[in-house]
Formats: sequence, structure tokens, C-alpha cells
Amino acid sequence: MIVGVTQLAYLVASALFIFALHWMNTPPTARKGVYAGVAATTIAVIFTWAQPTVTHHVWIVLAILAGFVVGVPLSRVPLTAVPQRTALSHAFGGAAAGLVGTAEYYLGVSEGPEHLTTFRMVALIAEILLGYLTLTGSLMAAGKLQEVTWVPQRPVTYPGQNVTNLSLFGLALALAAAITLHPTAPWAPLLFPVIIGLALLFGVLLIIPIGGADMPTVIAILNSYAGLSAVAMGFALDNKLLITAGALDGSSGLILAIIMCKAMNRSFTNVLFGAFGQVQQAKGAGAENVYKSETPEGAAQVLEQASLVVLIPGYGMAVAQAQHKVRELYDQLKKRGITVKFAIHPVAGRMPGHMNVLLAEADIPYTDLVEMDEINPDMPQVDVALVVGANDVVNPAARTDKSSPIYGMPIIDADKARAVFAIKRSKNPGFAGIDNELYFSDRTWMLFGDAKSVIGELVKQLAGGSGMH
Ligand code: TAP
Repeated sequence: MIVGVTQLAYLVASALFIFALHWMNTPPTARKGVYAGVAATTIAVIFTWAQPTVTHHVWIVLAILAGFVVGVPLSRVPLTAVPQRTALSHAFGGAAAGLVGTAEYYLGVSEGPEHLTTFRMVALIAEILLGYLTLTGSLMAAGKLQEVTWVPQRPVTYPGQNVTNLSLFGLALALAAAITLHPTAPWAPLLFPVIIGLALLFGVLLIIPIGGADMPTVIAILNSYAGLSAVAMGFALDNKLLITAGALDGSSGLILAIIMCKAMNRSFTNVLFGAFGQVQQAKGAGAENVYKSETPEGAAQVLEQASLVVLIPGYGMAVAQAQHKVRELYDQLKKRGITVKFAIHPVAGRMPGHMNVLLAEADIPYTDLVEMDEINPDMPQVDVALVVGANDVVNPAARTDKSSPIYGMPIIDADKARAVFAIKRSKNPGFAGIDNELYFSDRTWMLFGDAKSVIGELVKQLAGGSGMH
């Protein structure tokens, strides 16, 4: 009876996990998606706990309390720290899988060889390898993103690095094969910690050649490793819900990583082995590259005359926390009957959905957020493109310059608008470390300064001006 009820509860939880992911697809249903995920996890914990085989209730209560102690402060981090917070969650997921796998193995050794079948051993080994490498890999990724002093930001590379890493992983697999075939041999319990050590070391070595700026993609990949280790744990424990949830986690992480790589025009192997994020030489900065500056007064006058304005936010808007001022500007322009849209590039900022989240925080209607592919055909009709702290995502070199590191990356065609105003603090390049010819174009005027204060000035000008036309 209890088994039937549990299986039914697991089925409901699996369906809720699937709906949670589906609802995350669009901002209006995202909140519902979060509730569905929380409900699914709660059902999973309660019905697993209710199993007659589960006994050590005090330990379970302590573990749940420990989860709250860590989880509640983690949920309070600022939006800009979400990537490293996510990395920490994966680290905990990996640690949980690794520890459960370790406990299951030693329990099996004490109970006898019939408990450690080859199938179970393969699942356990996959679980601990993926779990422990996710633990240290995610901790390194979180450290890089948080710019912790003892974690090097720049890619650490040396000759033969990939060969060393692969040999190390090969060694771990060879030891794993030996222990799988003879799980209860006298030497096996001694070899097991060696495999754990190699997995922990491999997690560190996997991350050090990757630059801090590539970490969001790496985190999505680590997400899928954590999911796969949960799948292996599901097989080891014969728990179908873990297999389903792990598979959803693993595949969604992988899909996200692929989407991010595509939007940056990078291959998977390039992210993992390319040591991108090393500072690149700024190109094309020559005498012919002249910036034209404009004052907020001048820009406000042009904005007032426009009928279609497209704002293109980027990482600089996040740094300046300018989203609330952007909302004020949006209100001022709307008040004048001007159509205002936001062009959203899939990798603008430093994490997926970065711009959407910031603009939602400022209560900008989702209906005015337009995806890159949808807005680009309309760009030639745009009177003013206002670039707010974006750089690479509007760099036309991605379309034209084959030697550019961002060549082939899809961009928002800001250069096709009738006039462009670009807000940034200096002449420094963006993430890819390259100059942006958009800023030297005839139609572009720079508004140098912090995005929050420049937009604040624009709002002041518009609010003070006579307005309506
Ligand atoms: P970036 O190319 O990084 O350019 C941001 C610009 O904002 C900089 O040129 C900077 O110029 C300016 N800025 C910084 N602080 C500012 C402030 N307080 N006020 C005004 N401007 C400020 O950003 P993007 O156009 O959003 O492109 C994102 C880049 O990150 C892409 O190359 C993408 O591939 C990469 N990336 C994205 C992700 C995800 S998932 N979104 C993940 C990894 C990497 P100044 O210093 O002169 O102000």
C-alpha cells in the first residue's frame, strides 16, 4: 500500500518538475514554475522520509535544519551574485551525491558482495566521480566569479594541460574499473578514497584553464554533471524520482550551456579548453577612430522628436544598477506618445536572462521586451537606438570582421538605426576586449558617464522640458 502511494507521489512530483521547467520559459509564468519546483521537492522529501526503511529520523531533522541554515542566507544574495550562488548550489548537490555514493559503497562492503552487483557498482562509481568533481569544480567556479583572492581569475594554462587532465581522468576510470570488478576485495575499500581524491583534483584542474568570464557557461555545464550524478544515484538507490529529476536537471543544464555557446558563437570545446577570457589586444584603435560626444541636453532633444526608440541594455546597466532610472526614462518617453521597446540579446550581461530580470525588477512590461531576432528586421525604422552599457552585443564586427574573436556571434543591429546614443563610462572595451566600430559611426553619439547618472540626466531634461508634441 505505502509503496503504491509513494510511487503515485513520485509521479506527481515528476510531473511538477516538468511543469516547473516549462513554466520557467516565460517571465509571466516563471513564479508559478518556482512554486511547482518547491512543491515537487517537498513531496519528494516527505514521501521518501515516510518509507518504512527510513529510520534515523533525528539525523534527517538535523540535515534539514542544516539545509535551512545554509539555504536561507544563500537566497538573500544580490542579483549580481546569482551566478556564484548557483555554483554553490551545484557544489552542494555534487557533495550530496558523492557522500551518498561513498556511504552506499562502504555499507555494501559490510553487508556482503551480493549488495554490490556490477550494475550497482557502475552506478555508484559514476555517482561519486561526477559528484565529487562537481563539488570542487563548482567551488572553483564560484570562487572565480566572486573574485576570491586565492582563486586565479585568469586562465591558468601550461603545456600538455589537456593531456595531463585526460590522463588523470583515465587513471581514475582504470581504478574505478578494477574496483567495479572486485568491489569487496581487501584492497578495494582502500582504493575507493583514491578515486575520490582523483575526482576532487580533476574538478579543480578542469576549471583552472577557464577564464572568470566564461564561468556562467561552465556553471551550466556543471549543472548538467550534478544532474547526471543524481541520475546515477537514482540507479544506485533504485529511486525512480531521482532518476527523473536528475535527468531533467542534467539535460536542462546541457541545453542552457548549448544556447549560451551558440549566442556567443563559441563551441563547447572552445569554452572548456579554449582559455578564452585571457585579455586580448584591443584591435583597430587608430587615428581614424574618432568618437563624437553628446550632452544629455542634446540627446534629450533628439529623443523627444523620435516616434520609435529602442533601448539596448547590456552589462553596464547591471553594473550601474540603472534599471529604475531606465524605467523613469521609459515613462517620460511613453508620456510623449513615443513607442519604446527594449532589445534583448540572449547573452547581454553575464548570466542568462540577466536583462529580463533587471527590467522586470523595475516593472517594465514584458510585452515591451523584444528578443534579438524579432527586433532586428525593424531596426532600420528605429529613430533612436539608445545603448545602455552594452558593447559586444551591438558590435558590427561580429557580422563583418572575420578576424574578430566575436565574428559570427549574432548581434542586435543597433548600427542600422537612424541615430544611436551609446552610454558607457570610458573608451574601454567590453567583455571580449575589442573595440566597437559602432561608436565611431557617423550616426553614433557617445554619452560618456555612469549609466545611472546619464539616464538620470536624460530624465531630468525630459521632465523639465515642455514635453508634448
Ligand atoms: P560588455 O560587452 O561586457 O560591455 C559592457 C559595457 O558596459 C562595457 O563596455 C563598459 O564600458 C560598460 N559599463 C560598465 N559599467 C558601466 C556603468 N556603470 N555605466 C555605464 N556603462 C558601463 O557587455 P554586453 O554588451 O552586455 O555583452 C555581454 C558579453 O558578455 C558578451 O561578450 C557575452 O558573450 C559575454 N558573456 C555573457 C554571458 C551571459 S550568459 N549573459 C556569460 C558569459 C559571457 P566602460 O567600462 O567604458 O563603462
